Amino acid sequence: MMMQKLRRSGEFIRFGCKSLITSRPNKNSVSRSVSGFVNHYKSKGKLFEPSDGNYYNTELHHPCISRNLGMLLQKYKCFGSSAVSLIQRNPLFSSLDSKDVSYFKEILGEKNVIEDKERLETANTDWMHKYKGSSKLMLLPKNTQEVSQILEYCDSRRLAVVPQGGNTGLVGGSVPVFDEVIINVGLMNKVLAFDEVSGVLVCEAGCILENLATFLDTKGFIMPLDLGAKGSCHIGGNVSTNAGGLRLIRYGSLHGTVLGLEAVTANGNVLDMLGTLRKDNTGYDLKHLFIGSEGSLGIVTKVSILTQPKLSSVNLAFIACKDYLSCQKLLVEAKRNLGEILSAFEFLDNNSMDLVLNHLDGVRNPVSSSENFYILIETTGSDETNDREKLEAFLLKSLEKGLVSDGVIAQDINQASSFWRIREGITEALQKAGAVYKYDLSLPVEEIYNIVNDLRGRLGDLANVMGYGHLGDGNLHLNISAAEYNDKLLGLIEPYVYEWTSKHRGSISAEHGLGVMKANEIFYSKSPETVALMASIKKLLDPKGILNPYKVLPHSLFSH
Ligand code: FAD
Ligand code: MLT
Ligand code: ZN
Repeated sequence: MMMQKLRRSGEFIRFGCKSLITSRPNKNSVSRSVSGFVNHYKSKGKLFEPSDGNYYNTELHHPCISRNLGMLLQKYKCFGSSAVSLIQRNPLFSSLDSKDVSYFKEILGEKNVIEDKERLETANTDWMHKYKGSSKLMLLPKNTQEVSQILEYCDSRRLAVVPQGGNTGLVGGSVPVFDEVIINVGLMNKVLAFDEVSGVLVCEAGCILENLATFLDTKGFIMPLDLGAKGSCHIGGNVSTNAGGLRLIRYGSLHGTVLGLEAVTANGNVLDMLGTLRKDNTGYDLKHLFIGSEGSLGIVTKVSILTQPKLSSVNLAFIACKDYLSCQKLLVEAKRNLGEILSAFEFLDNNSMDLVLNHLDGVRNPVSSSENFYILIETTGSDETNDREKLEAFLLKSLEKGLVSDGVIAQDINQASSFWRIREGITEALQKAGAVYKYDLSLPVEEIYNIVNDLRGRLGDLANVMGYGHLGDGNLHLNISAAEYNDKLLGLIEPYVYEWTSKHRGSISAEHGLGVMKANEIFYSKSPETVALMASIKKLLDPKGILNPYKVLPHSLFSH
């Protein structure tokens, strides 16, 4: 194995000589680590009681919206595992009875109507073990027709439902708040068509992202999105959350790559919008309503998505930087110098690195000494020699300019996987470390690390504050890790983080959605008029409010 070492004031960059054919781990990287976390979890829940009793902050939000929409305001409790008391169950919803269960068994067959306690326990609990519902029933439809029949019936009975995919969501959107019926589309997992000329893939919503990637690999294509939860999350869940992930910088968001979809609305209507065309300007492009609406407007049953040719040369560099300004400058330089081959620009700070090293087995820091920040730069192109030389030259130049203090290019797939494991493993390490308050912010790149520093100052020894994320997309994952959930800590974090973000014209949800966690916080990022229009659209498509209640929009809007 040939290694090229470049030294500069005692620091070095190691350049491997082999380009990588593919660089991401192919394993299911979302193994639910139930042990540890549950034991640590002694949550009193997460409590935010606005001083005036209103769900909005009066400095930031227009009070008129609440009057216009006739909202009566409740205390907000975004709970941990047990406390749901401050969100009230909508009394207009029916409760499940034995006739309902019999009806579902008639249309789905006994085995796809789940009443088993253990399976329900899992389906009622989110990936972080932070949100927990008490549904007594999970339905597993096998096709669109069955989804339609289920919804038509639930709508007529006013039974609330929660659509569920791989249940890897991080904002409590995929689990019931109370007794909503869970509709999991996991059995709808067929690839329906693949066009090798256009690269358009048509599949059912329950296909696991990694399975689609494996299928495409045999055809010489890749999915336009990739995320740490790929081994469990569904494409329908990805579309419904408008998941971003690690490749967005190169291939754009799902609003661009999803060419069509099929969705079933609350009354059972099947909307066939499963186009496969790049261009189609015939009227309103309604598929966009379902991309990112977190199951609040309909259940996505099929997806048509533009995939990308798999290119022969993938390189991955793991780089250390001494300060955030250098990371920022490196991003600007990477866009300018690696432009057409840049396929990921991810970052983590030293606290995140330490957490991964402490909580995940077999992980080590690829660079020799610990630094304040680490960057992963991936390039994807079609010219092995040129692409690698380009990346090496870029790193050398960055080293000379003092932007980089150390770095290494992966020399084979295993090394690349081990680099990705560090970045992709942070979520799992956080889960193992105890309680975690997660924030997913879009901010101007120059502001991104200021909020991390501010919060560190604010919280002192109370918690460990971490910053990582998709720097190339201006997306910070601000995570606060503590031994256990506690209200004092939460009171110091919220609404501070939301106010800070709003003041800098950022978004309080870059890619994870609002779920139940941030349904009441939407006004920090959207105007009252916009939210009012969203509520009208919701009421038009789901007049009885049965689809994923208490999520996305302030739940008090729909409680009467
Ligand atoms: P679920 O969690 O089951 O559901 C998420 C939401 O979508 C819920 O509101 C649910 O009601 C709705 N929904 C699910 N399926 C449907 C459907 N068929 N029709 C209508 N509504 C539906 N997210 C990112 O954006 N980028 C990342 O890089 C990323 N990395 C992650 C890494 C880890 C380790 C984990 C645990 C999560 C990560 N996530 C990330 C969050 C999560 O994986 C994504 O939001 C993902 O898209 C959720 O897909 P899912 O199938 O698990 O959906
Ligand atoms: C990530 O980028 O790692 C995911 O969005 C998950 C997280 O925020 O922890
Ligand atoms: Zn992310």
